[in-house]
Amino acid sequence: MKKMILTALSAALVLGLSACADKGETNKTVAQNDKPVISEEEIGLRKETLYTEDGIAPVKADFNKPAPGMSQRFERSYENAPPLIPHSVDGLLPITRNNNACLGCHMPEVASSMGATPIPKTHFMDFRSQKMLDHLAQQRFNCSQCHVPQANVKPLVENKFKPEYRDPEEKKRSNLIDTLNEGVK
Ligand code: HEC
Ligand code: HEC
Repeated sequence: MKKMILTALSAALVLGLSACADKGETNKTVAQNDKPVISEEEIGLRKETLYTEDGIAPVKADFNKPAPGMSQRFERSYENAPPLIPHSVDGLLPITRNNNACLGCHMPEVASSMGATPIPKTHFMDFRSQKMLDHLAQQRFNCSQCHVPQANVKPLVENKFKPEYRDPEEKKRSNLIDTLNEGVK
């Protein structure tokens, strides 16, 4: 039995190797045909050698600096997109199990007194059972997984996307809780 598995394995290995060899051949053919060859440095977004990290630094990004309460909300990127964080997150990240500063201003019961947008109802819902919970859903605890600050940098890839809102109000607030099952029920 063991022997059979081994034979099968080595056959797979040989097949795999020859498949790789085939790929090598195709690459060569492309180069020979004088088709434009893209260098390794051009494939990635960073346009630098891929073989060392020396001297490689992220783009200098000027993140939005105003403290919470002093910033201007951004327009939503599209209908029901997670809003971008318009204020500084200095001292607020990382979010840990025992410390989530975002909640102190964004929980619905405190948000209006802080001038902050309340965490929406969707974040208090269990999407599997579609039932409302009496607490924030675990899946929504790590806010910065979906909500990110913005920096004014030149996009690496031009983006011509233009959002269309069915209601202009949706440029500044979400209504996902009302439209969740649109087209389903
Ligand atoms: C000290 C209170 C405070 C804390 C802490 C805070 N925020 Fe805010 N947040 C605000 C206020 C106030 C606004 C409204 C814009 C303004 O006035 O700066 C806001 C706006 C936002 C918005 C934009 C909402 C919209 O309607 O466009 C997002 C997203 C957001 N905050 C996410 C976060 C996240 C994520 C954290 C934790 C990393 C956080 N906030 C921590 C007060 C706070
Ligand atoms: C899994 C992704 C995800 C996580 C995690 C998440 N959000 Fe959101 N959030 C969204 C999306 C998508 C929307 C827009 C649709 C909606 O309302 O559900 C949104 C909307 C919001 C809004 C705007 C509500 C409105 O009425 O316009 C606020 C404020 C917000 N989230 C705060 C938070 C905070 C604070 C946390 C952390 C406690 C958090 N979110 C965690 C995805 C997320």
